[in-house]
Amino acid sequence: MAGARNLLILILLLMLHAHCPQGAKILTICLVGGSHYLLMDDVSRILQDNGHEVRMFRQIGDGTLPGYKMPSTPYPVSTYSLDEKTLKEFDKFFTEYQKEFFMGKAGFQFFINLMNVFANQCRISMNQTDILDFLKKEQYDIAIIDAFNPCTFFISEKLGIPYISIFSGNIGNAIAVGLPSPPSYVPTFASQLTDRMNFMERLKNTLMYIGSYIAENSVQAIFNDIAERHFPADSRPSLSDLYHKAELWIYNVDFSIEFARPLLPHILCIGGLRAKPANPVSQDLEDYIAESAESGFIMVTLGSMLSSIPRMDLVKEINSAFAKIPQKVIWRYKASDWPEGLEVAPNVRLLDWVAQNDLLGHPKIRLLVTHGGMNSMMEAVYHGVPVLGIPLFGDQFNNLIRVKAKRMGEYIPATEIMAENFADAIRNIVGNKSYKTSVMKQSVILRSHPFPPDKQLLGWVEHIIQSGGGGHLRPYSYQQPWYQQFLLDVILFLSACVAAIIYLILRVMRGLIHFIFSNRKQKQN
Ligand SMILES: *[C@@H]1O[C@H](CO)[C@@H](O)[C@H](O)[C@H]1NC(C)=O
Repeated sequence: MAGARNLLILILLLMLHAHCPQGAKILTICLVGGSHYLLMDDVSRILQDNGHEVRMFRQIGDGTLPGYKMPSTPYPVSTYSLDEKTLKEFDKFFTEYQKEFFMGKAGFQFFINLMNVFANQCRISMNQTDILDFLKKEQYDIAIIDAFNPCTFFISEKLGIPYISIFSGNIGNAIAVGLPSPPSYVPTFASQLTDRMNFMERLKNTLMYIGSYIAENSVQAIFNDIAERHFPADSRPSLSDLYHKAELWIYNVDFSIEFARPLLPHILCIGGLRAKPANPVSQDLEDYIAESAESGFIMVTLGSMLSSIPRMDLVKEINSAFAKIPQKVIWRYKASDWPEGLEVAPNVRLLDWVAQNDLLGHPKIRLLVTHGGMNSMMEAVYHGVPVLGIPLFGDQFNNLIRVKAKRMGEYIPATEIMAENFADAIRNIVGNKSYKTSVMKQSVILRSHPFPPDKQLLGWVEHIIQSGGGGHLRPYSYQQPWYQQFLLDVILFLSACVAAIIYLILRVMRGLIHFIFSNRKQKQN
């Protein structure tokens, strides 16, 4: 008896072990630098630190983390570098656009051009047969990919591994993912609207909602030739198929920032992976901050990709705005790019790189001046720091509209910044307690989430590996033709029925009237 029981326990233990995802082989794929890399690095670390075997596949050389000293990683990395010519092209592309960002010209055309650059890079990435063959032989259980560059989907598909998409911004690609987004209260990406819309705004939102299907199609078409070259005709995926195939979509956002909206079972909002309790800042900075006494300090960062401002007039205005305020200013700005002959305001210190999360957690911080990237927004909310935004490109307008709608701060487009109004905006936010109160409220929402972001990430990744994929979470709508999904066939049928009934009623009434009138005529006659 006892022997049989022990055997049973042994078998159970073995079964449990077989299902235990400890030591799963996970490939993270990151083809974009800057904040995208920082987020994917955190994701890789969390999984590696929890007993999984992680490797990152990374494209290097886009030079978009100026000033950042890359620490060594606890997981191995497979890298390849783009060739000189492509790197130069990218550099030129990004430098030219930096000016445009600060002129307020970085709309849809920028996005299309960026996707063209990504597609060019992808044609090279997909040709890295040595690395791809090696990765294929490794037989990963799952890939975790930075979804912003669509090439990561083609690479996972080529390697034949299931994948989880990480989207580093807010839910701006809902249409591509097939996420229900009723235009009555879900603002379309780039609409600059909130969830509360009057009639005209809902009209605008609806038109933009329809337009974004067309826009999405034109973006995806850029990658068509890559699918054609690298996949046989009978198993050739479209980008849209690949978006729908992801086991999970994980967004780097939280409802402390995002407006409440419908999700699907495999769409997760896990915001704040990079927001952590602060480490002490360096003694040197601590001394500098101490000089500010009760006024405190403000921090200025315009994103991991931008270490300077290519518009001298704007630097001048911002610098003289800082000279007017009592706070100390810690400004991430590459000192060697500072305009010649311009004196840095006495209360300003320029640094090539800042430990943003640590400074945001400092008790004396009063304000974050930011471009509005999602990592920064989540860190500001986590630490309860009000925000003054200078939105430049991508999802930054979207993010800052949410910040403003939730009263956590304000924003000024770069084209409208003058020393006077910029200083006023700072004084207003720092002096008005309501911003701090609101952001503290949102901070409690983020921090009291029932499960911390790293636990959510780990738990969900393991769930997908254990359950053999996210098929049980994906809605059937993904397989429906669009006219069925939007019930156009049913609506058409019902409309036809209503029309037929109305027609019949009219016919009968006409018949009756005819009958009555002809009766009368007969009587009169
Ligand atoms: C990729 O490889 C193919 C075949 O070797 C070649 O014809 C093509 O030009 C390469 N593409 C790029 C962008 O290097």
